[in-house]
Amino acid sequence: MVNVAESSSGAATVHPLEPLSEAEISRTAEILGSGGRLEGDVAIAYITLHEPDKDAVLEGRPVPREALVAAVDRLTATTYRGVVSLDEGNVQSWEVITEGQVPVTADAMRAEKLVKAHQGWRDALAKRGVTDVENVQIDTWMPGHFGLDIEEGNRLVRCLAYVRDQVGDNGYARPVENVIAFVDLNRGEVVDVHDYGVVPIPSEKANFDEASIGEHRTDLKPLDIVQHEGPSFEVDGHFVKWQKWSFRLSMHPIEGLVIHTVGYEDQGRVRPILYRAAVSEMVVPYGDTSPMHSWKNAFDAGEAGLGRLVNSLELGCDCLGTIHYFDAVMNGPNGQPHRIKNAICMHEEDYGILWKHYDSDSQQAHVRRSRRLVVSSIHTIGNYEYGFFWYFYQDGTLQMEVKLTGVLQVQATHPGETEFDHSVLVAPQLAAPHHQHLFNFRLDFDIDGTANSVYEVDVEPLPPGDKNPLGNAFVQQETLLDRESDAARLHDQTRNRTWKVVNPSVTNRLGQPVGYRLVPGANQVMLAHSESAVAKRATFGTRNLWVTHYDPAELHAAGDFPNQHPGGDGLPRYIQQDRPLENQDVVLWHTVGVTHIARPEDWPVMPVEYAGFTLKPAGFFDRNPALDVPPSHSDHCVDHSAGDHGHDGHHGHHGNGHEHDGHEHDGQH
Ligand code: CO
Repeated sequence: MVNVAESSSGAATVHPLEPLSEAEISRTAEILGSGGRLEGDVAIAYITLHEPDKDAVLEGRPVPREALVAAVDRLTATTYRGVVSLDEGNVQSWEVITEGQVPVTADAMRAEKLVKAHQGWRDALAKRGVTDVENVQIDTWMPGHFGLDIEEGNRLVRCLAYVRDQVGDNGYARPVENVIAFVDLNRGEVVDVHDYGVVPIPSEKANFDEASIGEHRTDLKPLDIVQHEGPSFEVDGHFVKWQKWSFRLSMHPIEGLVIHTVGYEDQGRVRPILYRAAVSEMVVPYGDTSPMHSWKNAFDAGEAGLGRLVNSLELGCDCLGTIHYFDAVMNGPNGQPHRIKNAICMHEEDYGILWKHYDSDSQQAHVRRSRRLVVSSIHTIGNYEYGFFWYFYQDGTLQMEVKLTGVLQVQATHPGETEFDHSVLVAPQLAAPHHQHLFNFRLDFDIDGTANSVYEVDVEPLPPGDKNPLGNAFVQQETLLDRESDAARLHDQTRNRTWKVVNPSVTNRLGQPVGYRLVPGANQVMLAHSESAVAKRATFGTRNLWVTHYDPAELHAAGDFPNQHPGGDGLPRYIQQDRPLENQDVVLWHTVGVTHIARPEDWPVMPVEYAGFTLKPAGFFDRNPALDVPPSHSDHCVDHSAGDHGHDGHHGHHGNGHEHDGHEHDGQH
């Protein structure tokens, strides 16, 4: 296990991966100010922990306490990235970023005022019969990069409008189609308004509060999760121990939920599995060709900041059971810290059966219930909600489940139009453009140490012949991914494709290298053409797996500053080095894709859609590591002979049911 290191100031004992405190964020802003870095009109986009050297963390060596900062000077339209030493009280580096912009900051709120005061925009709304703009909702979108003159030399947002009778209405029900206001956030002015033609504003409201939808169903009885003796986890700061699992967690302003130093206790020692795992970037490319929607590509991590937009969760609503919450600390544009209460939720869930076997001769059933630890956060980015749920299982399995919900991105359509090439009608005069959600997860594996190798594992039929006389045979094919240039891979369900990370120097009792398997879920890569702007900026979305050699500076699949970036940064740049990957410190980057062709049932608020992947031990353990999970306390569940209960019918399905068909041991398995 990682030792707690003294900070070099000696003032406090703080683990090197503990997120920055409110005091440390304030102190960072002070150091920037006294170092002259906030002169001009500087907005600080984020202040976060500058993560220390991995080797030093793993060896428990003292590390400097540093903050990583991104900022923009609005007067000169200059983007900066800096590192501030909290120990030495100085600015270690202050670098000008020449391509890309900081993620949107709180100053995007100014856009609403500017747009509503702009005569050209007001005229465009008046043409659509909207003269009272007070309650109009303004959404700010990052502009992308399309080589337009208007994109040069500024920090741009595209503002879209939605008609509401009052604040709290679901504005997406009534979009102002074909009007885009372009605002330069640096100069604080509307630089252009585009109007692509009037489409009537839909009249049907789509609120989903109780008053709007009518009576709730009345036949739902309470379901309470009670843990009389409390939860089974222990928490120390941001360190968590749950049964044999241990890890650290934090909320990163860009990446959202991050887990660090994930290990599993086995035969008396903690065995490392992952050093760090988080969303590295995500993009939502839209497939519509109209000038109102064709440019929409939301990079909700690097452009918007997932952590900055994390929800404050509520007990009994967002999470059920005995909950431990972690707060997150973010910063405002002047560097002032602000605390988001209950940003990360952690609790245990019953997850059905962990394992079971019924022995029909002895009529003995062995069964264990599965308990999983859930660590999650939910982020609201405009119309959409994204939940990121890490599940830790007792058999050494780790799972990431992304939950997609919220309100569809929609367009107003002419009355009577029902068929569209690139969208689906979801309500009268309202269609939802086809789109994808592509999430890239950076998974820094350290399986029993940092030197690991990655194999692509396919299962393939053998051609009939001498080696396959009956034609029934199939084989597992393992291919080493030995260089970065060969390690940008696609999922292939027809081959049951998985990827396996192994430590070639450590073997289990069977002599197999210890490993973990990355099992993709349902998936699709980017559908936009490779020469499209979005494919160049979010190349990560064109492959399901990328593998790179570890470099602490390589954290983001589309680069550190994807906002208004022309493209090519991130993974396509990283792999140009074509580093060797065998028996090295490797990082896997897994793209999880959801293609969203909307349904009427997704309106007016979308039932949760799921996506994700699983990390399964594959020879990491010598046998099922969950054999020692005790039976449940309930009298009915302890190991017993099914005969104890007399086959009275109540337990007739206790076993595999074979006693009813008269074919016990009939060999049909
Ligand atoms: Co969607």
